[in-house]
Amino acid sequence: MATILVTGGAGYIGSHTCVELLEAGYDVVVVDNLCNSSRESLRRVEELTGKKLTFYEADLLDREAMERIFDNERVDAVIHFAGLKAVGESVCKPLEYYHNNITGTLILCDCMRRHGVKSIVFSSSATVYGDPAIIPITEECPKGEITNPYGRTKGMLEQILTDLHTADPDWKVMLLRYFNPIGAHKSGRIGENPRGIPNNLLPYITQVAVGRLVCLGVFGNDYDTPDGTCVRDYIHVVDLANGHVKALAKMAGEQGGVWIYNLGTGVGYSVLDVINAFEEANDLKINYVFKERRAGDVPACYCDPSKAERELGWKARYGIREMCEDAWRWQKTNPKGYE
Ligand code: NAD
Ligand code: UD1
Repeated sequence: MATILVTGGAGYIGSHTCVELLEAGYDVVVVDNLCNSSRESLRRVEELTGKKLTFYEADLLDREAMERIFDNERVDAVIHFAGLKAVGESVCKPLEYYHNNITGTLILCDCMRRHGVKSIVFSSSATVYGDPAIIPITEECPKGEITNPYGRTKGMLEQILTDLHTADPDWKVMLLRYFNPIGAHKSGRIGENPRGIPNNLLPYITQVAVGRLVCLGVFGNDYDTPDGTCVRDYIHVVDLANGHVKALAKMAGEQGGVWIYNLGTGVGYSVLDVINAFEEANDLKINYVFKERRAGDVPACYCDPSKAERELGWKARYGIREMCEDAWRWQKTNPKGYE
């Protein structure tokens, strides 16, 4: 069975993907510097699956460490999650973001090339569409004006990986544009574990529910949307993880190429819809107040996921209720995350 190197595998999406990979029979090697995650998530991945994975605590920026990993392991393909992802922080620390995300990927790809590994699945984002020209967003939708350095690293890395394939058509490059991953594994053992005060909606809601935060601020209620709050395409993280397993299967049957897929459900929910869904699913009340719009937010962002269904045989299975139930199960049984 193939061996998959998962960069950033200890993180939120990475840990859920490791579970699905192990369950699909892949051998998994994780490299993560734990700058935004914990070793405990991988221990729980092993506990959930009853299988072992190989873990290297290493930084993608450490070329020698990366070379050693490729020397030690017979890697067939890479799923590349490792990166910094906080939008607001990226505005204050552009050099750190460009260096970590871009240089890290350049070193990774150079090591791959030197070891004859030419298959990569890359974590891109709906952010590359900017304020989308077409709704629901298809993969043909032109890339838009990206409003922050984090998002720009995604746009640039999509281009860099595409250029790599142009230079050597044997490369298989899969660019997966995630919409808004939320939820957690059904077991409640692994989930999203943001450091500090969460920037994203769902972790904020679950921390209000668990009493760590007092009140949710809803950013803007005067958008041109049905209830005035922003609309997003929330996707269960386990569905997203499965998209990676499907992506690997597709790449295995191909010669070389660049493929782009939107991974979302195709259904848009407003901020108020999500609050209501969370309250109903879990029989709780969430304290919230309306606040000013947040800079850089677009009114509506949801996708047409039909290309992934046609070409990968992938479709999201879980709805908003399960996303909310599972996010809450994780938070209430782990009120302080992995600590
Ligand atoms: P995460 O922070 O939980 O996981 C990223 C992991 O990468 C962390 O474990 C971190 O320790 C590791 N990492 C960062 N820089 C590293 C480096 N230089 N060397 C080694 N390890 C490093 O984030 P996530 O939510 O799981 O996101 C995974 C990927 O998906 C990221 O690239 C992110 O930008 C992308 N993405 C996430 C979302 C989202 O909403 N969560 C949306 C779109 C795209
Ligand atoms: C954000 C990033 C995006 C990134 C993604 C995953 C921005 C502009 N975009 O997407 O680049 O890929 O996270 O990390 O930051 N909201 C509130 N109150 C809150 C938090 C959020 O009302 O406390 C609203 C937001 O205004 C938005 C929606 O909830 O309308 C979802 O927000 P969030 O979870 O941060 O995701 P995005 O902004 O879609």
